[in-house]
Amino acid sequence: MTAEYKVDGAVAVITLNNPPVNGLGHSTRSAIVDGVRRALDDDKVKAIIITGGGKAFSGGADIKEFNSPKAQAEPTLHTVINVVENATKPVIAAIHAVAMGGGLELALGCHYRVAVAGAQIALPEVKLGLLPGAGGTQRLPRLIGLEPALNMIVSGNPVLSEKLAKSGLFDQLIEDELVPGAIAFANKVADVRPLPRVRDKKIDYPNHEAYLQFSRNTVRAVAGPYPAPLKCVEAIAAAVVGPRFEDGIKVERALFMELVQSPESKALRHAFFAERAASKIPDVPEDTPQRSIKSVAIIGAGTMGGGIAMNFANAGIPVKLLEMKPEALEKGLATIRKNYENSMKKGKLTQDKFDQRMGAISGTLDYSEIGQADIVIEAVFEDMKVKEAVFRKLDEVMKPGAILASNTSTLDVNQIASFTKRPQDVIGTHFFSPANVMRLLEIVRGEKTGKDVLATAMALSRKIKKVGVVSGVCDGFIGNRMIEQYSRQAGFLLEEGALPEQVDKAIEKFGFAMGPFRMGDLAGNDIGWYIRKRRYVEKPEVTYSKTADLLCEMGRYGQKTSAGWYDYKPGDRKPYPSQVVNDMIVKHSADIGVERRKISDQEIVERLVYSLVNEGAQILEEGIAIRASDIDMVYLSGYGFPLFRGGPMFHADTVGLPNVVMAMEKYARGRHGDAWKPAALLARLAAEGKTFN
Ligand code: NAI
Repeated sequence: MTAEYKVDGAVAVITLNNPPVNGLGHSTRSAIVDGVRRALDDDKVKAIIITGGGKAFSGGADIKEFNSPKAQAEPTLHTVINVVENATKPVIAAIHAVAMGGGLELALGCHYRVAVAGAQIALPEVKLGLLPGAGGTQRLPRLIGLEPALNMIVSGNPVLSEKLAKSGLFDQLIEDELVPGAIAFANKVADVRPLPRVRDKKIDYPNHEAYLQFSRNTVRAVAGPYPAPLKCVEAIAAAVVGPRFEDGIKVERALFMELVQSPESKALRHAFFAERAASKIPDVPEDTPQRSIKSVAIIGAGTMGGGIAMNFANAGIPVKLLEMKPEALEKGLATIRKNYENSMKKGKLTQDKFDQRMGAISGTLDYSEIGQADIVIEAVFEDMKVKEAVFRKLDEVMKPGAILASNTSTLDVNQIASFTKRPQDVIGTHFFSPANVMRLLEIVRGEKTGKDVLATAMALSRKIKKVGVVSGVCDGFIGNRMIEQYSRQAGFLLEEGALPEQVDKAIEKFGFAMGPFRMGDLAGNDIGWYIRKRRYVEKPEVTYSKTADLLCEMGRYGQKTSAGWYDYKPGDRKPYPSQVVNDMIVKHSADIGVERRKISDQEIVERLVYSLVNEGAQILEEGIAIRASDIDMVYLSGYGFPLFRGGPMFHADTVGLPNVVMAMEKYARGRHGDAWKPAALLARLAAEGKTFN
């Protein structure tokens, strides 16, 4: 039963019961219609209440039904709302905790609404690239007025019920218990006729055309590549100009259908589901026992160690940072303090919170002080010898059952585990820089990593508000292994005729937050140099453009040396194209005998993005990533891949895999064509007309 029906005196109470948030799935919708009909047929019943059991009134559409035929099956939400709105006895929505999306639209179809304080009220469809498609754009402005409704619908942000007390949305704010209060209200209005219907109200806004035009302009300016916010305005405009309610509903419907088909909305919905899917590990069921994490130790208080520590302090988990030398420890702690002070200056952190967070972090030089921590995360230099010494020591001092994690970005987690007598407790937790900001956390599963350790790390990532994505062990894991191919292409493009600025501009126009060369300057070009030097020895067969090495030989490490691919002015992060660098690139082409040619932006984007796609396919095939959408999540949350394109694998699906393969075949005939052999999985899916996702 997804809704319960009870009668209390002259009032029927329909209580939605579809945990966790009373999503309006097919059976819940049917149960509402059945309940209303039953109440209408019962002469003793004079009024009907719809309320939500458990944690919500209703969170809207049932996400389990998304993209399934059930979502469209009768009774649709439209039908339910029609039944409610046309009922011959008053229907009252009694709201607590959450009334969002379709849940709020259902409430808007009721004759009355009552609520308790603290309920989150929202029409968040725009966040999935859609608009409220069950009358929300038509009814909300009729009830609370044009401006407040437009703000809610275009932003999608929740507003607390008490803040809406005077908006007209609620007929009464209930002080005590919701259902008894709603029943009292129902008895009071039971005989009032005619029944008030939101659809019959008129929107009274003097000079609405001017306001709508102003809204279109502002919304267009901030919507970027997303069509939904402007369509929301258009749907609301239809409610204002009318003339009839049905006309507005038709406009809303048509705009909704357009948005459902838009690639931007498809990408946003993909990302929404991808984030939820990432937390599921096929052979680690949800009820896998977890280890309790109440304290954390971190080895190394450098760039990463400090940022990682802040995540735990922010979540209220005490952290101990261990360093070798007092100066390093002092420096690490001072950086953390400065970061928090900056947040305080920006008004993002109160003194209270500052004290709490700094209070949660302490330093030590002594391993005996961290032995009782529930998890220890190693973030020392990226050098296997150093990691070995640290892990042998951790094996000695850590209590049994402690999780031993490494933040390594390139080293073999299995080998690291082998330095201990408890490889089942060892796992990779690969944070991204700045670790206190970036949402991505790659959770690296070693051959022997225990399932409980994996489940614990996954839950911990949620606790510190990260997107945890599981990766198998390989050089670079999911994200960096793919970016390596992207960087190689970026280098080859320079040799063949492009300059850093053109490459960056082209890929930024595609939607990346930052192109590869600006990114290199930000992260430090010396890091890649260091990794390449190792690769020249370990994998001499892999080729790279020499331009990046030449750049580093010039001492141009990036922003930190005020010179990288671009020139920088002191105190200014703005990149200025650099004549010396561009000359170096052009000369290098001549030195290796490559005749520079004009390269189109399309070629730049395809070569950068498809190099990600091909390596992603390889990673998927090897089982390093569990699913294509995990790869998309890595790129959306850690690498600035444009959200409106849904991640590299989803983008490839959108372009069509046969088209991707065709482009790759073209590039295979060019320089370094060997990089363009399609991964077997990609070739097969393209041939079968299938997609990654
Ligand atoms: P870092 O050089 O800023 O910090 C390393 C810290 O570890 C230094 O403060 C050093 O004094 C300390 N340390 C070295 N050996 C130690 C030992 N035996 N015992 C205790 N402390 C010791 O390096 P960073 O950038 O923080 O990198 C740390 C780890 O994180 C590396 O494995 C790196 O590959 C990884 N990583 C780095 C990222 C980045 O963007 N910097 C991103 C993701 C991972």
